[in-house]
Amino acid sequence: MTPPTSSPTTPPAPKSLKEGGTIEPVREILWGASAGARKFETAEELSADMRKLIVRLMVVQADTEFASIQQHRPWLDQAPTLEDRWIQARIVADEARHGLQACRILRDFGEEGQNFIDELLTKREGQHKLDAFNMKFDSWSDVGAFTMFVDRVGVYQLRAFQECSYGPLARAMPLMLSEEQLHLNFGLNVLRRMVREQGKYSGSKAEAQEAVYKWYPRALDMFGHSNSETSRRAIEWGLKRWTNEEARAKYIQEVTPLMSAIGLELPPEEFDRHIL
Ligand SMILES: [Fe+2]
Ligand SMILES: [Fe+2]
Repeated sequence: MTPPTSSPTTPPAPKSLKEGGTIEPVREILWGASAGARKFETAEELSADMRKLIVRLMVVQADTEFASIQQHRPWLDQAPTLEDRWIQARIVADEARHGLQACRILRDFGEEGQNFIDELLTKREGQHKLDAFNMKFDSWSDVGAFTMFVDRVGVYQLRAFQECSYGPLARAMPLMLSEEQLHLNFGLNVLRRMVREQGKYSGSKAEAQEAVYKWYPRALDMFGHSNSETSRRAIEWGLKRWTNEEARAKYIQEVTPLMSAIGLELPPEEFDRHIL
């Protein structure tokens, strides 16, 4: 007997999308002005404005992936335990793959996409688009707070693209999301150990707390400006699921109890912010 499955012609309503969960791939656009129509599958089908936005989003995505490799690099042989060393090496390999995946989407945009890829490959530390990716990891607590906070924003950006209207992008999401989950858990674990086993794993609670104050504001900035016209358009085109402020609010709701559970304090939402 075959178990009942949802018909491929009746896509689930957007509200049925589980955040971070696995969902069946669908061919239809699930939200926005073209909901119910077939997803866009090639760059040629896109309007000029939508094309421009996807290219911009993928350039930023790839830039963050490549930048984080540069940030992790000095710590690859300094992690305090063997397991940490292995997980960090794996994170770097994952980020390289994510960068490749974003660039493959850019390649579909022909010469325009290729020019951006060529430029991305020349970027050095300090030359990246977002502040969080131009900061150095000065201590092991920075590695923990970066993966806890900054990678977690990355997950929100990926979830926002889950089942989006551009098929090649939608299909890249499940594997990237499952890999990012490892990065977040690692970051939280590094901070937790610093609090609970003070000094044993290369760092104290005070250092962990300092790193939270350093990275949390940069992570909140990554969601972009509130009331952004671009984020509203991205929703209308079925590309993103939330406005910048909606995603930021969900994120704050998620990280607040995680930090209090391990005995660390978050600064107020407005603390040291550059982008509001
Ligand atoms: Fe990544
Ligand atoms: Fe990551």
